[in-house]
Amino acid sequence: QTKRMYIDNENDASEALAAASVLLREGETVAFPTETVYGLGADATKKEAVSKIFKAKGRPEDNPLIAHVATKKQLKNLVTSLPVVAEKLIDAFTPGPLTLVLPSNGTCAENVTAGLSTIGVRIPDHPVARGLLKKCDLPLAAPSANISGKPSPTTADHVWSDLEGRIAGLVDGGATGVGVESTVIDCTQEIPVILRPGGITKEQLEGEIGQVMIDPALAGTASQPKAPGMKYTHYAPDVPMWLVDGSAEAIQSVIDTERKGGKRVGVMASTETAAKLHADRTIPLGSDLREIAASLYDALRVFKHEDVDLILCETFDLEGIGQAVMNRLEKAATEFVAN
Ligand code: TXA
Ligand code: MG
Repeated sequence: QTKRMYIDNENDASEALAAASVLLREGETVAFPTETVYGLGADATKKEAVSKIFKAKGRPEDNPLIAHVATKKQLKNLVTSLPVVAEKLIDAFTPGPLTLVLPSNGTCAENVTAGLSTIGVRIPDHPVARGLLKKCDLPLAAPSANISGKPSPTTADHVWSDLEGRIAGLVDGGATGVGVESTVIDCTQEIPVILRPGGITKEQLEGEIGQVMIDPALAGTASQPKAPGMKYTHYAPDVPMWLVDGSAEAIQSVIDTERKGGKRVGVMASTETAAKLHADRTIPLGSDLREIAASLYDALRVFKHEDVDLILCETFDLEGIGQAVMNRLEKAATEFVAN
C-alpha cells in the first residue's frame, strides 16, 4: 500500500523527506508537491524505477518525462551542452515553473526521454520538492502525479484518489501554488520554441531572451470547433465539458437551453462572471488569471456524474498565464461553442 507522509511544519519536514528519500533510493515511486502540480518521482538514472511511473499512471511510453534537479550544477550533469539562451533562462527563472529541453548526455535512463536525444530538465521552486531532491541526491523523473488523461493533481488528495495503492509513497505538502504545469521550452532550436505554455509566460521569456516561437501545434486551436464526441485525451473531467465563448448573457442562454432539454448543468467561470450565472452548480475560479490557473484542475475534478450532466466553462484572455489556462481547457473540452 501507499505510504502517506505528512509535512505539517518545519520540524516534521525532515522526517517525511527522509522516509520518502529511502523509498526513492530503493527504486520506488513517490509523489511530491512542486510549485506547479504534484509530481510522481522516481530515480531518473534507473530504468526499472522509471518504468514504475509509466505503469502507475497508465502513461504511453512514447511520452518523455521531465528530470527534476535541485541546482544548475546538477542540471549540467544531464546535458551535453548549455546554449547561451538556456543559461539565461535558468538564471532568470529557476528555481521556477520552467522546463528546458536540451541535448541529453545519456545520464538518465532511456525511458525518461522515450528514446529521444533530448531531455526536459527542470529546477522546481517548492520547499518540499527542493528538500526531497537534496535529501535523496538523485535526479528525479517526475510527470504529473495523476492517472494519464485526468486533470493534473494540485492537492495530495487528488494524488491519493488517482494513485493510492499504485505508488510507494506520497509526501503530503498541501496544495500547490501555480496550479498549471511548467512551461516547456525547446532550447535546441536556433529560436527557442514553447512546446507547452505554463507558469512562465511568453512575455516573461521574451523579456529575457528576445524572440521565442510557439509550437504551431498550439496556435489558434481556440477558434476551431471540436468535433462532437471527440475522445477525451487530456485533463478530462468525469462529465463532458463545453467551452463557451461570449458574454455572461450568452453563457446563460446556453445554460437555459440545456436545462430545458433536461440536463443538469455545472458552470466554471471567473468570480465576476459566475456571480451573474444561474446553473445547477457554479464554481467561481477566481478574480484574475493567476487565481483561475491555481483553481482550474481542482474545479475540473469537483464535477461528478451524480451532480451534473454537462459542464460549461467560459473562455479567458490569452495574455500571460491565460495562454496556459486556455491550452488546458481546450484539451479538457469536448466541444467549443461560439456565440
Ligand atoms: O510542472 C510540471 O512540469 C510538472 C511537475 C511535476 O514538474 N510535470 C509535468 O510532467 O507536467 P508531465 O510528464 O505531465 O509533462 C511533461 C511534458 C510532456 O508534454 C512531455 O511531452 C514534454 O514535457 N517533454 C518532456 N521531455 C521532452 C523532450 N525531450 N522533448 C519534448 N517534450 C518533452
Ligand atoms: Mg501530465
